[in-house]
Amino acid sequence: MKNSTKIADATPIDDISGLKLDTSRIYTLEEIYFYEAKNITKAALKYLSSMPSKKTAPFTFEWLLQLHYEMFGDVWEWAGKLRKTELSIGVKAYMVSTELKKLVDDLEFWEQNKSFDIIEIASRIYHRAVQIHPFLNGNGRWSRMLANIYLKQNGLQPTKWNENLLSKENIHRDKYINALKKADLGDYKELISLQGNLL
Ligand SMILES: Nc1ncnc2c1ncn2[C@@H]1O[C@H](COP(=O)(O)OP(=O)(O)OP(=O)(O)O)[C@@H](O)[C@H]1O
Ligand SMILES: [Mg+2]
Repeated sequence: MKNSTKIADATPIDDISGLKLDTSRIYTLEEIYFYEAKNITKAALKYLSSMPSKKTAPFTFEWLLQLHYEMFGDVWEWAGKLRKTELSIGVKAYMVSTELKKLVDDLEFWEQNKSFDIIEIASRIYHRAVQIHPFLNGNGRWSRMLANIYLKQNGLQPTKWNENLLSKENIHRDKYINALKKADLGDYKELISLQGNLL
């Protein structure tokens, strides 16, 4: 870990190596979130301002990585790169690319066989993507963006997730985590209802 003293905030980000901003100065966490949000807005404009074609958003393995790069590449070196280290959430690092490719194949199967309706497919994409946790950070925002692009591409409204969904102050946090845990057990009902803009 290097440069970790450059963040002037009590809230820890354990590793800021890979920050692409001007490393000769100190950033607060709020500033970093601001630059991340600005970067993510560019991706949202590209994919969500009108219905994205299959060419623009092909849901291939390579594009899944590209999307993460488009969301975080202005700010972080690790954007769009699969993690090589273990995290407390997510599959083992050596399984990440296999699991992501499996998700791409499953998606193709669900579409061909009309296994689920669009919103359930979006929920399954989101849950599986964040469960795999392919990147060092930004997995939640990337997975929610993926699901939203899928909804938009299929003529549905993207989910308006609450800001700072996971922050302790957010009253919906428990609901959100519990919905993900139920989805781990194969029960997607709660996640689907959260994605259906009920928040
Ligand atoms: N206890 C938990 N059980 C299940 N999933 C969790 C838990 N804690 C975190 N997560 C998942 O991990 C995501 C956070 O991962 P990460 O920090 O890589 O993403 P982020 O985009 O930076 O954060 P956020 O999703 O909070 O905006 C959460 O959105 C949630 O989906
Ligand atoms: Mg995070």
